[in-house]
Amino acid sequence: MSVIPLSLARRLAPALWPLRRLCERGWLREADVDLCLRLLHPVLRVQRVFAQVEARRWVAEDMLALTLRCNGNQHGWRAGQHVQLYLQQDGVRHGRSYSLTAVGGDGRIELAIKRQPGGRLSNTLLDRLDVGQVLELAPAFGELQWPDDGRPVLLAAAGSGITPLLGLLREALAQGFSAPVTLLHQVRRQGQRAFVEELQALAERHTNLQLRWAISGEGGGRIEKEELDGLCGEHLIACGPRGFVERLQGWWERSGSLQVESFTPPEPLAVGESRTLSLRFARSGQQVTGTNQRSLLEQAEANGLRPAHGCRQGICASCTCTLLSGVVRDVRSGALFAEPHQPIRLCISAPHGDVEIDL
Ligand code: FES
Repeated sequence: MSVIPLSLARRLAPALWPLRRLCERGWLREADVDLCLRLLHPVLRVQRVFAQVEARRWVAEDMLALTLRCNGNQHGWRAGQHVQLYLQQDGVRHGRSYSLTAVGGDGRIELAIKRQPGGRLSNTLLDRLDVGQVLELAPAFGELQWPDDGRPVLLAAAGSGITPLLGLLREALAQGFSAPVTLLHQVRRQGQRAFVEELQALAERHTNLQLRWAISGEGGGRIEKEELDGLCGEHLIACGPRGFVERLQGWWERSGSLQVESFTPPEPLAVGESRTLSLRFARSGQQVTGTNQRSLLEQAEANGLRPAHGCRQGICASCTCTLLSGVVRDVRSGALFAEPHQPIRLCISAPHGDVEIDL
């Protein structure tokens, strides 16, 4: 139930700055103010981003595009970035990152969600999220950018890696990009090719756009070096599972830029002998036995805590937490951090000895 329409709620958002100031100074409790605002419209909040589902559209046999309209608190989001989306299930708040395939000036955004075997949140969103429902979103993150020198671009995606690339492609073509651009999409089955009709319509309208698909599970094979070498493109933007983007990185020898993004976490560096140690989660008042072999995020979750997180690979910063004492190791580089009261990212930090964190 809403007292005012969403369009009015969005127009109200900039006028809420005095309330924001009072909350920031601690003179009002943000949760109390939000409780009052949501009586006017379920998306209305002082600072947090909430959005209402406006449309659902199947764009492949296992992928759904969701159009959402945000409450006016989202700023500077770009197509091709990712946002963490939250949903309450059985009293537990679950979150997962999805790519922005479109960002409109009117607060409308589009996200694409792929069905994941055993994926609790994704599958709930696909099967049970209705038009009109309200969701919370965290600030957008992600660095992929369309190159600005006007030279030919090659886009290579595997699976749901198509989604940020589609966001970038739509914007570049809408802004008049006229050099050759090739989109290469590797999927297991024909029916998993996403946004096919829209892409074909784009290719008819923009003769500089070439489309290629590799159907890896139906005898068509994966994208190989020879195929990549034969395609026009000075810049490569690739997104997919880690193995896919690493193969492309290894093959890329041209002078233009190379941007890659993977949605599978990096393999942690080997750290030698496994040790047990003590972990203290100060705010939760828990002291547990841990290991130097797993990230603090995994170990906190294994002990029943629910730290905020997004990408699980050190990009989005949503798992940032304060190190109170002890030494942690960056699992990607092996670097050690011991300065008390410094922010650390739980998903890429493993304890190096006994550790206390503000969680
Ligand atoms: S979850 Fe994104 S940086 Fe840790």
